[in-house]
Amino acid sequence: SGDPLVLGIESSCDETGVALVRGNDLLFDAVASSMEEHARYGGIIPEVASRAHLEAMIPTIERALDEAGVSLSDVDAVAVTAGPGLVGPLTIGASAAKALSIGLNKPLYGVNHVIGHACVDQLVHGEFPDRVMALVVSGGHSSLLLVDDVATDVTELGSTLDDAAGEAFDKVGRLLGLPYPGGPHVDRLAREGDPTAIRFPRGLTAPKDQERHAHNFSFSGLKTAVARWVEARTDAGQSVPVEDVCASFAESVADVLTAKTIAACRRHDVDTLVIGGGFSANSQLREMAAKRCAEVGIELRIPPIRYCTDNGAMIAALGSAVVRAGVAPSTLDIPVDSSMP
Ligand code: KG4
Ligand code: ZN
Repeated sequence: SGDPLVLGIESSCDETGVALVRGNDLLFDAVASSMEEHARYGGIIPEVASRAHLEAMIPTIERALDEAGVSLSDVDAVAVTAGPGLVGPLTIGASAAKALSIGLNKPLYGVNHVIGHACVDQLVHGEFPDRVMALVVSGGHSSLLLVDDVATDVTELGSTLDDAAGEAFDKVGRLLGLPYPGGPHVDRLAREGDPTAIRFPRGLTAPKDQERHAHNFSFSGLKTAVARWVEARTDAGQSVPVEDVCASFAESVADVLTAKTIAACRRHDVDTLVIGGGFSANSQLREMAAKRCAEVGIELRIPPIRYCTDNGAMIAALGSAVVRAGVAPSTLDIPVDSSMP
């Protein structure tokens, strides 16, 4: 096609991602992760991640070009995550993108990581309709976005006031003694348990929260409730039914995420919902979202999991949308913004 070839670079957390996209066609997506190095610390160490990005960046760019069968001189534009994320890791990606932009004399586009998590779905299920709702859930963010134009007009309706959904799963995993990151383990155990065994709180769903926090989430009270429940059982010398705890906790998270998101769809007259971010792998969320969307006639779009975790494809996809929308390129002095809204 006549669309520009966009090279996208992602480095906001622990994944070094580089991808090539033309229009909504993904040519190749290369990812290198430093998660194994972080696992033994039980969390991401920014300095370790920065160094890993520095080491992986050029080999990952070379691999993406190689596998896509294109050369650097074919690249028409460079897109990079400008935020939000960890400032050191973001700086490595931005420096690489700026160097490429200067060296190739091609425009640079700094883009938003969270919007990228929604936009990547265009590579899988095609161009968005006029208006979509996007729920972006991961270990770092839980945001509800109203997307009128993914390149130029995205409104954040709400986000988590404390922990992200994946982070809450990881914390519950830790308190149950599961390996880091605990999210997938809690998911697996939850599938063996009874989701109605324990009634855990639903954050920000009380009538008093309906107005100001209709579109916001809160999972830290839930995590504390789980901790207290487990503690009480242990103190009483009783065994902890780990599967039921996981299932009841996962039920609360999935219930709140889907109920609030679907209410937002109806309020804003939207009939397409995109779910992105690494937490969209969660079985309980997937199941409940599919069921509730079907009940109210909302089309649900969830990309395959490899596009939901951090990757270069999401940034190249958003870069491609931004270039096609005719948005002016970023200047070479664009800063990275670790808390970009
Ligand atoms: O997007 P992601 O790969 O990394 C960022 O946080 O940016 O998201 C990973 C998060 C982690 O908190 C992980 O534990 C959680 O999502 N997660 C899950 C599942 N798979 C990943 N949580 C619950 N159930 C899962 N199946
Ligand atoms: Zn992410």
